[in-house]
Amino acid sequence: MVVFNVGADSYARFMGRFSEPLAGQFAELADVRAGQRVLDVGCGPGALTAQLVLRLGSGAVAAIDPSASFVAAVRARFPEIDIQRGVAERLPFADGSFDATLAQLVVHFMTDPVAGLAEMARVTRPGGLVAACVWDHAGGAGPLAAFWQAVHDLDPGALGEAGLAGAREGHLAELCEAAGLHHIEPGSLTVEIRFAAFADWWEPFTLGVGPAGAYVSQLDQAQREALRARCADLLPPAPFQLAATAWCVRAYAKPAGTAPSPWADGLVPSLDH
Ligand SMILES: C[S@@+](CC[C@H](N)C(=O)[O-])C[C@H]1O[C@@H](n2cnc3c(N)ncnc32)[C@H](O)[C@@H]1O
Repeated sequence: MVVFNVGADSYARFMGRFSEPLAGQFAELADVRAGQRVLDVGCGPGALTAQLVLRLGSGAVAAIDPSASFVAAVRARFPEIDIQRGVAERLPFADGSFDATLAQLVVHFMTDPVAGLAEMARVTRPGGLVAACVWDHAGGAGPLAAFWQAVHDLDPGALGEAGLAGAREGHLAELCEAAGLHHIEPGSLTVEIRFAAFADWWEPFTLGVGPAGAYVSQLDQAQREALRARCADLLPPAPFQLAATAWCVRAYAKPAGTAPSPWADGLVPSLDH
């Protein structure tokens, strides 16, 4: 599991600048409505949680994340919501607890994405919505595309994030199908972010957040400088605008009376919807 042992501020500077605008679009896509109860899986410091609270009120929102610092940040920001520490693969909620269960930029970090999506389906009421999105790392249209391009120019063997679950076109839908979800609707969302200076873009990569931050952290000073210079070559002159696209999927938990997903066997206590 990729553990995010970083403060909420570092996350906000590195990824929140992209995930916060994405969260508004993702909440729209999920079409959450007043009166519904929803779960934010892998909530991080709360980009999507904030959008859900805005639309539904804090009493209607629950959230979960394995990172202690992110759970603490969400608890401080929204003391009234049900925020728990845990993973998608073992959600501490009863069957059918939510009208909609959402995971923004999380499926690619799950140890077992099919099990995680099956658990999201289990805690969603029959016929309720399960939605997920992951940056298009494989197609080179995610927010870290220039960074990983520069890394591979200098270090062709580096792993990057292109091979992660859900990061290529169509893969989120395949995972949802394997997890036993129904009426799977794939799509994409794009956000645009403006950078006044190259340093604004680069500096958050040095904060150790996620796989990109971990990659930079293990470089020596000369390697880090070479990577910074290669990134500067690849990006447009400042000020510049970056578009970032995420693959997304909307799918539905099994209607009542259908057979349980075989993927969930042994994973959860009961799957009777
Ligand atoms: C890129 S962040 C996304 C955070 C937030 N949803 C957002 O859009 O800003 C990925 C998050 O997934 C969490 N995570 C990693 N593995 C997970 C798992 N197996 N189940 C649930 N969340 C997980 C991390 O702790 C981190 O907060």
